[in-house]
Amino acid sequence: MASAKLQFDGKEYELPTVVGSEGEVGIDISKLRAQSKGITLDPGYGNTGSCTSGITFIDGEKGILRYRGYPIEAIAEEATFSEISYLLLNGDLPTASELEEFDEGLTYHSMLHEDMKKFFEGYPPTAHPMAILSSMVASLSSYYPGANLEANLDLNITRLLAKAITIAAFSYKKSIGQPFMYPRNDLSYTARFLNMMFAVPAEPYEVNPVLERALNMLLILHADHEQNCSTSTVRMVGSSGANIYASIAAGICALWGPLHGGANQKVIEMLRMIQDDGGGYQKFVDKAKDKDDNFRLMGFGHRVYKNFDPRARILKKAADDVLEELGIDDPLLEIAKNLERVALEDEYFVERRLYPNVDFYSGIIYSAMGIPVNMFTVMFALGRMPGWLAHWKELRRDPSARINRPRQIYVGATEREFVPLAER
Ligand code: CMC
Repeated sequence: MASAKLQFDGKEYELPTVVGSEGEVGIDISKLRAQSKGITLDPGYGNTGSCTSGITFIDGEKGILRYRGYPIEAIAEEATFSEISYLLLNGDLPTASELEEFDEGLTYHSMLHEDMKKFFEGYPPTAHPMAILSSMVASLSSYYPGANLEANLDLNITRLLAKAITIAAFSYKKSIGQPFMYPRNDLSYTARFLNMMFAVPAEPYEVNPVLERALNMLLILHADHEQNCSTSTVRMVGSSGANIYASIAAGICALWGPLHGGANQKVIEMLRMIQDDGGGYQKFVDKAKDKDDNFRLMGFGHRVYKNFDPRARILKKAADDVLEELGIDDPLLEIAKNLERVALEDEYFVERRLYPNVDFYSGIIYSAMGIPVNMFTVMFALGRMPGWLAHWKELRRDPSARINRPRQIYVGATEREFVPLAER
């Protein structure tokens, strides 16, 4: 591909281009400042490639999402989450024996150090489980001091994936005042999580295969999404040389925001508000359009997808299927469908190409599974864990990686004289 030319301040600069395996073009401006003293300005990074990556491909115009080349539609229902975690982390699907070994790692690293149980005692019962998850993940680094050694990289990835579900389930048990259920080695990754969430010591608990299947699908759909806000955060923190636990904890915090993973909780709160209001859908669509009102349709819109989010399509159908299989009639599903219909007929949403995203229908399925609303973003974090870890690993293995350090255009006061306090 030919280089790009930039004319600026009477001079011409030749900028090399990089072409991705799907034909995407990047204009490499990394030497621009050294040559011209100019930088590029792109608030929100909507047009900035921060790295090259071989993990996930998205074509937002066509609604394509592929993990390591595999279309999301092909793997969402057929694969297991641990298989897809292996794929993201290692580049190819595992053979049966590779998967067995990987699963064994996830099983035998799933317990927390007993001392960590004391941490949970310090949180109020109302603590948001995202606060617990992020701080517990950061705290893991104090138990594994070799966390930053290259030789321990895969071991720490396994530890983090294995322990994340235990921390998440313990935070839920803590919030409802029930005893922690230890991870069971005879169960799959997803069944182990469900058992830790819903079993109690007093009676036997059988993991419902409908729930296990639904959870597999939900986690796979969230497993990676290239350079989104939380993954970029993981890479940003990791680029300083911070250890894997610190980097992932930062990603969890980034995910928590309502414009990112926190949207799934906000969607259910919004649907309940519409239900309680009883005043119809147009009112809320109008509120979302009103620039003087900070209300937005949560679960709508995406930086990259401009025609549809393939994950939302899969989830809309799955919501119908899972609720039917579980024999649940949730009025919020009907409200969500009606809201989608009214919004998609509205000029404002059409013009801006705003469609339901992954968070729009996921909460309805989580609710049907018995997962409380304040755990929804934790579920997103559990799903995104292998993606974050794969990006962290890719960054560590990239010989061209440098510390991430954007620049700015300063618009503050120019130099002025300091006047001592007594003279002001
Ligand atoms: N409701 C009403 N208006 C919206 C919405 C919405 N949900 N989303 C975008 N817009 C409008 C926005 O006001 C702007 O209008 P205008 O051009 O008149 O100023 C235009 O559409 C473009 O929006 P933007 O905010 O510049 O787009 P962005 O790419 O910066 O933000 C987004 C993307 C996902 C943060 C945004 O669409 C949003 O806030 N959605 C609601 C929150 C949400 O569902 N987040 C989950 C995202 S998907 C899962 C994930 O990756 O975390």
